Parts: sequence; structure tokens; C-alpha cells
Amino acid sequence: MKISSGEIREKFLNFFEKNDHLIIQGSSVIPKNDPTLLYINAGMAAIKNYFTGEEVPENPQLCNIQSCIRTIDIDDIGDRHHLTSFQMLGSWSIGAYFKDKAISLAFDFLVNHLNIPISKLYVSVFAGEPSINLPFDNESKNSWIRVGIPENHIVSFGMDDNFWGPAGNTGPCGPCTEVFYDTGIGQEYVQGGFFDTKRYVEIWNAGVFMMLNKSADGSFSTLPFKSVDTGAGLERLCMTLNGLGTVYDTDLLLPIKDFIETIFYFDKDHERNVRILTDHLRTICLILSEGQKISNEGRGYIPRKLIRKCIVIANKNKKSKDFDLSPIVEFILDNFKNINDKFATNREYVISEFNKEQSKFADVVNVGLEKLNSLSTDFISGELAFNLVTTFGIPFDFICDFAKEHSIKIDNQKFNEMIENHKKISKSENNSENNNKIIFEKLPDVSKTEFVGYDRLESNSKIVKIFSERGKEINNCGAGDDIVLVLDITPIYARCGGQESDKGIIFNDSFYARVSYAEKKYGIVLHYCSVEKGNASIGDNIRIEVNKERRTCMSNAHSATHLLQTALKKVFGKDVHQQGSKLGENSLHFDFNYSDKITRENICNIESIVNNLICLNIKSSVEELSLNDAIKKGAIALFSEKYGPTVRMVSFGEVSKELCGGTHVPRTGQIGTFIISSCESVGKGIKRISAFTSSKAINYVQNIITKSLQSSELLRTKIDNLPNEILLRLSSSQKKPKVTKELDLSNLKFLNTKIPFAYYIFDEEFSNGLVKDIANNIKGVFLAISSSKSRFSISVCKKLDLSAKDIFNKIAQDISAKGGGNLEIVSGGSNLNANEIIKCFKKRFENEL
Ligand code: SER
Repeated sequence: MKISSGEIREKFLNFFEKNDHLIIQGSSVIPKNDPTLLYINAGMAAIKNYFTGEEVPENPQLCNIQSCIRTIDIDDIGDRHHLTSFQMLGSWSIGAYFKDKAISLAFDFLVNHLNIPISKLYVSVFAGEPSINLPFDNESKNSWIRVGIPENHIVSFGMDDNFWGPAGNTGPCGPCTEVFYDTGIGQEYVQGGFFDTKRYVEIWNAGVFMMLNKSADGSFSTLPFKSVDTGAGLERLCMTLNGLGTVYDTDLLLPIKDFIETIFYFDKDHERNVRILTDHLRTICLILSEGQKISNEGRGYIPRKLIRKCIVIANKNKKSKDFDLSPIVEFILDNFKNINDKFATNREYVISEFNKEQSKFADVVNVGLEKLNSLSTDFISGELAFNLVTTFGIPFDFICDFAKEHSIKIDNQKFNEMIENHKKISKSENNSENNNKIIFEKLPDVSKTEFVGYDRLESNSKIVKIFSERGKEINNCGAGDDIVLVLDITPIYARCGGQESDKGIIFNDSFYARVSYAEKKYGIVLHYCSVEKGNASIGDNIRIEVNKERRTCMSNAHSATHLLQTALKKVFGKDVHQQGSKLGENSLHFDFNYSDKITRENICNIESIVNNLICLNIKSSVEELSLNDAIKKGAIALFSEKYGPTVRMVSFGEVSKELCGGTHVPRTGQIGTFIISSCESVGKGIKRISAFTSSKAINYVQNIITKSLQSSELLRTKIDNLPNEILLRLSSSQKKPKVTKELDLSNLKFLNTKIPFAYYIFDEEFSNGLVKDIANNIKGVFLAISSSKSRFSISVCKKLDLSAKDIFNKIAQDISAKGGGNLEIVSGGSNLNANEIIKCFKKRFENEL
């Protein structure tokens, strides 16, 4: 080789340094605070703000070597000089010199320092663009002629070829002048004729004349000062100066290519495939060495895309079934650390991130490729393409390449439809409650998972399948991965029949993962796990342990609902049936059919029945029997459920028998206690009881007692008297009605009812008007009794949906009374004295009204 890349770098920096340019450090390829740019794609991209004046450089003349990534060229890789990453030799004048000096410097460097014969040099200048008021660049043309470039070596191009920038969507840009090297191979340029860029290879953008700033709306404004930005791709310059046919023959790429060729030989397209591997693996190293994480979008998706393409290509190599690209990655890191020190400092990160991604994807691709290779038709259906992309992760462009190569047609339209639909479904799934659910196109052919969790909370199991979080089958998983595991046997209860899933841990000496959720599909238990430590592969033996506390809570809740169903049938009749349930770690709810109003008395009754059954500490038993036998034995079955020929019947003595697949307590005593926290209507004729069991129930009750005690202290009254006291205060805090002149409302006494029900024994006569006023005032029922004659009146607040007559009719017999009136007020006389009357009212209406 005539000149090494190292010498070119050195010559370039020396030349510009001698010409008063300050050498500055190259930046990371990951742009800082620049969301408009995926990766640094030119030397100037890292110093954009100097051109707008937003930042001022240490020196107005600068130069450096900058690593760049241009993903736009990704599909051209494999030809002789396109690369996804390269090193750019850059020099800049920030508001200092302009066109003429830039051109003199370029000429001087090329001709006098790199010793390129003038006859080999061609240049292009900007042809002009009226829409942005830029004329033909005569200035540059004249400068080139002045330094010694023959006029017939000067060509002109428009916006597409001779206008550069911005780097990203917005920012500094301008017309440019480029230098080409005549390789002598191909069509010769005749002035004004065709300029063959294959023969004339571009070696230097010798000056972008930064004058304009492009805004987000596409308009251009003038920059505050004029600058120059030059850039030469080192790989291409090195190729040209050494008379090489491709950039892959330069010392920057040839060692990688040679190393790859010791591993791979491709029967078809060998050269192209090796070039792609060389380029992509080098770029992957560059990106990862900057600490970039691999992901599904944006910057993180580029290394993923590159790695996938490499794996797909490596797979084409017939000799290598179990290929591993990591030795190539290691080779690149070790052999090029002198020009990229991050290859040394971040070596381990690059290798581990690469390996993780490689193992995730490799097997998937194998299966996908086999599918493609075994195609018996000359048509790839939309369904197959979709399946290959979503289930096996084969890049669609790869499928297209394959199809082209083998003259196979693809049903693009169907494929696009399915992809769009898939995106919509994924989106709505992600928004739903269980956003960790993955979508499987098709579940793999594995035996049903054996569930051993009724009897034990741990097992030694084997990993049967591993899925990525996106539902693709993979072979291995490692720390940081969210995965779904299928095991041969499991003690983990998968969410079913209202009972929430267990949680737990899966581990062995070199692996530790947490199970956050489990569901069952086609008899296979899918364990959703996050891997915290180590690695695991298909076939590994692991131990799995269920979170005992959570399981105990679930079993308590589940058994309690069986007892609740028994209690509901007792209180509301045999026609009451379960309509749904949710049994969680912290609470449960149970839905059932019942249309009437449920009173507090009913609730207390139900609670007492369940708690009595708990106290009896009844043993549970499980039987597997035929559905008929189970029904004969009195088992409750859910009508909406489909049962197989054999059913599982869970019994608590003769008290409760239900067909159920859930987990239960060994004896009812374990439930501890059962407290209903609410009863509400959740649909036409459907009620929902929410309740707590064991310590959660105790906490709930304690909380209510604490609040009641606090309230009774605040109101200075006994807990028993709290409702009366509150009512009284409520009444007296309202606008004082005229009745208060005749009766101090604080003297009223109240029955223990939900609706305010007050009474008062008058020593003298009272008017019905006053009685009505008081009822309206307390917004409830008022009973007035005269002490002497046992005369009474009952009045009901007009706003209540109650009738005084109904109340009277209900009590009349109890108090041996006769009377009459209307909906609002009834008056009468009784044989009993005042206190006896009140007793009867208490007995009759407390806990009812
Ligand atoms: N920014 C210009 C380019 O990338 C000159 O470096 O070509």
C-alpha cells in the first residue's frame, strides 16, 4: 500500500494545523441535545451551533477526524464504496475565510501534500437555484481555475448534488464544491457532457459554503456570517490514493474482511455478503462502544437492524450452522482500538450487548429461513410473510431479497393489511389492563404444562420454551430481559376462574427471574418473568417457588366466596347464583343475581353465617368425578362454564360443594374472618359484594373502629349515640325554623335507624302542624306522643318516599292503636303508655328504616 489511512489522517491534521486550524476532538456518534439527528452524519453535525453563532469556538479555524454514521445508505452496502460508518476528515472556517481560501487550501493539500496529479482531479461547482436566490457559483469556478484546475475539469450540479445540508431537518446549509478523482475506468468526461461518477470518484467535499439556515417549515434564512465546512471520507480517500477497487481493500476494512473470510464462505454473492458483514459489524461496534442500548425504535433500532441483517446473512453460509459472530466483534474491537479508544474502554459492554441480541435472534432466524427455503410454491402469501416478520423477526426487506433472488412473488397487499391490523391490536393490548400480555401468532407444539400447585408451592422443573416479550421464540435469555417461560411442570397458578395469578421466583445456580404473572393458553402455562441475574436456555433445569403469602391470600379469598355463596342462598334463596368474581391478594368481590334491596340486616346476617362456618373450621376436600355424579351430590356449577367429562369438586363438608379449579384453604378456620365492605348494584338485577378476609378484614374493621372512636371523642358522645348526635347537629346547624320556638330540637330522641326517626313525649297538647314541621325539619319521621292521654301522631318528611299511613299500619297492632290520616301524617290513640309505645317503635323499626 502506497499510503496508509494513518498517514492520511496525520497529513490532514498537520496540514490544517500548519494553516492555523485548531485540532479538536471528534465527538460521540450519538448526538448531544439534537433530536433532529439519528446519529452524527458529518463532522459539522457535532459543531452545528458554531455556524449559527449560538456557540463560539475556541478558534475560528478548526479541523478534526470524526466518526460518522449514515444509515440512509444502508441498502447500498455491499458495493465498492458505500459504508454505514466512516471517518470524516473535516476542516472549518467559522466566519473566517470563505470560498477562495477554502479552494486554495484544498488544492494545496491534494496536489502538494497527497501528491495527486492535477490531471486526475475534477471538481464540481453549484449550478444555481433561482427559488432560493442562489446564482451559478462563478466565484468557486474562478478560484479553481486560478489555482490550476483546467476549466474542462469543472462540472456544475444543482441542488441534488452540489448543495449540502442541513445535517438533520433544520440548520446551516449551503452550496458546495466537490473534488473527484479520475480512476480512468469508465466513460471519459467531455466538457458539458455526461459525468460518470463511477469513473470519477468523489473524494472530498472541499467546501460547503454555509450561508443559509433551513427552518422546520422548509424556508431558508441567511446566516449571520459565512462559513466553510469541508469533509472527506477517509476510507474512500484511502482507496483512491492507493488505486484500490473498493474501500474494503483499505487497511481500515481489509483486516476485518479477511478475518470474516476465515469463518465464512458463501456459495452465492460471497463478496457482497462479506462486505455487508464487514461494514455492519464495524458500525455495530462503533454504536455500542458509545454505550447505546439496543431497542426497538430510534437510535437503538439501528444496531438491532444491523445485527439481524448480519445474522440472516451469516445463515446463508452453508458451512456454518452454529455460527457465532462475536469473534468478529472482538476482532474489530481489539484491532482498531488505536483509532477508537472506546473500543478498549467499553469492550465488555459491546460484547455482552451484542451477544445478548445475537442469541435472542439467531434461532428465530434459523426457523424462519428454513421455512423460506422449504417453500414448495413460487408464491409467498401475505400470511406467511407476516408470520415470518412478526413471529420469527425476519426483516421484510430480507424476505423481499429472497423472493427476488428466487423469482418468487410476495402478496404485499395482504402482508401490509395484516401488519397494520397487528399494530392496531398491539396498541390496544398495550392500553389494556394486562399490558404484559404477548400476542402469539401460533403457540408452539409443546405438551400441556403439568400443574402441581394444588399440593405444593415449589417444584424442580425444566425450561421447555422461551419467548421474547414480543412473543417470539428464543433460545436463551439473560439479565434485564422480560420474557415468557414455558416449563414442563409448575406450581404457579395461572389466572383463571376469577382467581388472580400467583407470583413467584424461578432460579438455579446461574439464573434468577421473578414471575409477575401467569396465564394459561391451550393448557400451556405462560410465566411472565423479568430476568434479574444470569442466563438460562431451553432445556435448563430450574427451581420454581410460589410466593406463599400471596397464594394464602388467594386461597382464603377463594374459599370465602364458596362460603359466601352458601350464605347468600340461605339468606336470599336457592335461586341466587354466582355471576362473576374477582379474587385478589387484597380483596375479593362476588357478583350474584338479586333484584331487591339489600339491607344492613341482610349484610350482617350473611357476614355472620360465613364467620360461623369459618369458626367451625370445616375441612375442605377435593374430588375428581363425572359432572353427573357431582351434580347428584349437590355441587354448584356455573351455567356459563363448559365442563369436561371429569370435574373437580371442592367441598367444605356438606355445607358447600362447588365445581372449581381454584386453590383453597385446607380448613375454613384459616380464613380467619370475613367482613363485607360494600354491597352495590352493578347491573340490572346483579349485586356485587366486596369483602375482606383474614388480616385484611381485621385491618378494615380496626380502621372503622378507630374512625368511630375519633368521631365520638370529637362529638363528646358514646359511639352508640353517634348517629343521633350527628343528626342533631346537622339539624341545629341548619336555618332555624319557627318550630324551634315551641320545641328545642336538641331535646328530640332518635331511634337507631338509617332514616332519621325522632320521637318526643309532650307534657301538653301538640299541634299536627308542629309535628309535620319537625318531620320536615329533620328530614325524617317524627313521632309525637302526649304523656297524659297516650295520643300520638306520626309524620313523614314530604321529601321522603315513605307513607305515614304505612308506618302506622305496620305498628297499629303492636301498640293496640286506632287512628287515621294521610300519607304525610297519621294521628291516633293507644292503650299503651308513652314509653311502651316507644319500645314497640324501636323493636319494629330499628334496623329496618
Ligand atoms: N458536511 C459536508 C459533508 O458531509 C462537508 O463535510 O459532505
